[in-house]
Amino acid sequence: MEADFDFDRYDRVRPIRWTGDALELLDQRKLPFAVEYVHCGDVRAVAEAIANLTVRGAPAIGIAAAWGAVLAARDVEASNGREALERLEPALATLNAARPTAVNLAWALARMRRALLDAGDAWRVALDREANAIATEDLAANRRMGALGAAMIEPGSRVLTHCNTGSLATAGFGTALGVIRAGVAQGRIDKVYAGETRPWLQGARLTVWELQQDGIVPTLIADSAAAHLMRTGAVQWVIVGADRICANGDTANKIGTYQLAIAARHHGVKFMVAAPSSTVDLETPSGDAIHIEEREATEMFHLGGVRTAANDIEAWNPVFDVTPHGLIDVIVTERGVIEHPDEAAMRAAFA
Ligand code: MRU
Repeated sequence: MEADFDFDRYDRVRPIRWTGDALELLDQRKLPFAVEYVHCGDVRAVAEAIANLTVRGAPAIGIAAAWGAVLAARDVEASNGREALERLEPALATLNAARPTAVNLAWALARMRRALLDAGDAWRVALDREANAIATEDLAANRRMGALGAAMIEPGSRVLTHCNTGSLATAGFGTALGVIRAGVAQGRIDKVYAGETRPWLQGARLTVWELQQDGIVPTLIADSAAAHLMRTGAVQWVIVGADRICANGDTANKIGTYQLAIAARHHGVKFMVAAPSSTVDLETPSGDAIHIEEREATEMFHLGGVRTAANDIEAWNPVFDVTPHGLIDVIVTERGVIEHPDEAAMRAAFA
């Protein structure tokens, strides 16, 4: 299914590099105007990089946290994995608290915990191996999702995406952007629109730049232009990623996703969520139970260091929202495609 895709031609960006004794993170606060890696030599630096969006995107923060656990282990002496886990708990809790909405963070740390519990005295090797596996499996899942998602798109389609769900947000290839990459490569997608994604501009700074590296020329729109774009018949699909997919299919993703789903349904545009199974959280019954991260209001007052809002005002800055499952036409994971997701379909696929 993936054989017709030339992976070397597409997908050249890598946001996370493990050097063997440190983590290097492509600084996504500075892209696309500077391409710089931030050196993280200890767990505190990794937690800070996740919280301040040096590294971002649900799968990428899970992978970074896994390597953060490996770094934390450098300061721990223990004769077996269980003992190591006890001593590592404070560091794992710090990593887990860095961002609340994307379940991939807690999921990756749970995997690291399990790896420790299963390991004897070779627990350091086990930790290293698990972090590596989390990254490798993410890349493979994305490539598989790309093929599965693209297969649903009629040749000649035009699509709109939101935020950044590409290589920058994952181990590589991307989730929604992976579907788009595969769709463009197969001639199914003729045109890609990317929403700016205020206030942090993941679309305008990251998605557009990432697609340019692949030779794909996207068209940027203001977030507020999306409904009008749909009304003109310019797009057939909205394709987005996810930070948490609940047991009933409700999906948390970047703020603005929900209004895209409402507009898409109103205009007969299909709505696809692409995410690895590590984003599926059957423990959370519905979107009402998701902790939506709210960030500093100050993020909304400036653009590139220039004040763009009036002085002495208040702002509300929730950075995710929940799209109810009834507005989602299809969820694509590496395990397959779920059309019209609801609790029964989700449990059948993931329980
Ligand atoms: O705040 P961010 O940039 O971490 O938010 C990212 C998103 O909302 C993405 O759409 C989601 O994490 C999926 S990334 C493959």
